[in-house]
Amino acid sequence: MNNKEIVAKAIHQVVAEQLSFEQVVQLLENPKSPEHGDVAFPTFALAKAFRKAPQMIAADLAETIDGAAFEKIEVVGPYLNFFMSKGAVSQQVLHDILKQGTHFGDASIGQGQNVPIDMSSPNIAKPISMGHLRSTVIGNSLGLILEKVGYNPVRINHLGDWGTQFGKLIVAYKKWGSEEAVKAQPINELLRLYVEFHEQAEENKALEDEARAWFKKLEDNDEEALRLWKWFKEESMKEFNKIYDMLDISFDSLNGEAFYNDKMDEVVELLEEKHLLKEDQGAEIVDLSAYDLNPALIRKSDGATLYITRDMAAALYRKRTYEFAKSLYVVGNEQSYHFKQLKAVLKEMGFAWSDDMQHIPFGLITKDGKKLSTRKGKIVLLEEVLNEAIESANDQISEKNPGLENKAEVAKQVGVGAVVFHDLKNDRLNNFDFTLEEVVRFEGETGPYVQYARARAMSILRKANFTVSTEQDYVLTDEGSWEVVKLLQQYPEVVLAAAEKYEPSIIAKHAIKLSQAFNKYYANTKILAEDDQKEARLALVYAVTQLIKEDLRLLGLKAPDQM
Ligand code: ARG
Repeated sequence: MNNKEIVAKAIHQVVAEQLSFEQVVQLLENPKSPEHGDVAFPTFALAKAFRKAPQMIAADLAETIDGAAFEKIEVVGPYLNFFMSKGAVSQQVLHDILKQGTHFGDASIGQGQNVPIDMSSPNIAKPISMGHLRSTVIGNSLGLILEKVGYNPVRINHLGDWGTQFGKLIVAYKKWGSEEAVKAQPINELLRLYVEFHEQAEENKALEDEARAWFKKLEDNDEEALRLWKWFKEESMKEFNKIYDMLDISFDSLNGEAFYNDKMDEVVELLEEKHLLKEDQGAEIVDLSAYDLNPALIRKSDGATLYITRDMAAALYRKRTYEFAKSLYVVGNEQSYHFKQLKAVLKEMGFAWSDDMQHIPFGLITKDGKKLSTRKGKIVLLEEVLNEAIESANDQISEKNPGLENKAEVAKQVGVGAVVFHDLKNDRLNNFDFTLEEVVRFEGETGPYVQYARARAMSILRKANFTVSTEQDYVLTDEGSWEVVKLLQQYPEVVLAAAEKYEPSIIAKHAIKLSQAFNKYYANTKILAEDDQKEARLALVYAVTQLIKEDLRLLGLKAPDQM
């Protein structure tokens, strides 16, 4: 039972006629400051039933409630402030964490159901943007969080690997490219060819026709066109994989847009069957005015299908393949309208499960408050950012701990982790600024700060030769440990909230708070003093190392034992 449930139970015993247990839970509040206790109950809701002023009700209840689980119950005006018994709470939570370790907070609400997560999804022959990075790390973390509460996440990289741009690329490559140049720097060279195509096409309109012809060949499975397309894709994937490897993120499916080529006819046929397609200047559209949305363009006048048509085929495929409980799309906020239309069209087709599809939008990464432009060479930039972060981490570790054995590995875990943590610590819809120096600092609300707090806790345990015992009862009743105990105890609720809101920042904030609380405890308490509380204090430190490690894991970060 968490604190609110313990309090609710005690209150409910005396107001069972007026309020249900759930109603009591709903009314309970978390006081802003510790002086007001751990849980507060406002009595206003009982005024009518008792025909008394809330102040008097509070005073009466304080007399009648069973106080066994509490250190004290205070009356402050119409409020009852409950102070939990520190001994009982710490004993319970330390027992649970010592027994379950990082599995503390695991839940089974997902019942093993599948949740496809559309994530990362960069476009072939173009650089991975900061937006794709965000989609990658948010999607990965959501997968881990959902897994912890019992779902089976399916990570899908919906690669942008089809479209008229491939006709242009083939033309440009044949005219101005070379195999060596592409092999040397695939993304840069392909991007250069693409840019060159557009520059030349300004002057020479015939190029566009050539590109269309090549794309048509590609769609008709022409051997040379297919070979080049495959090759561009392979070379691009090599570059993308460098970044995925650095982040240690992998996918269950790489079915991108091209995968749905042979699944598009069915979509159009279904729409026709349901008489939903309308002609509009040669193109075919679905009217969505009932949803207050602009019509969805399904097929262009030249017969080409569109982004949304592919997403419809993908949605159908995912429903059939995974029989999903939820289907998530971790894609930038700027595509909100697209996903509204996508869901509306499927709904119009009678697929009730479209309600289970959910766009998980996120904000922009900015530089000095301004949007990062998608200028040339961004792929180099992203890899560079990660490498610079590793270097900076390496410098700082060398200073703090010159003799550290696996320094290079730790520097990578800290550097890359710093970039990822920075991305995940803000509510995902917020825009945020990226400045490398801020991100890799060991102080403030950063990844290195959290990792370092845990490494420090680990070193205490090593020094004390602490071994876990689940036989023993550990009880802590002092103020100093209480702030830490409360953050440990909250963990299952924190995990559930992150899963329900699809919000990794809830986990990141817990990691920051727990690290801060631990550092404060460490500064004010002689943990290793030889008295009868020593083992209990060490059990607390151990519990902290477990939950920080789990927080970091859920965010996609590593937890080095020494740094
Ligand atoms: N490739 C797209 C882009 O870079 C993102 C794809 C998102 N996923 C989807 N199913 N539409 O904008």
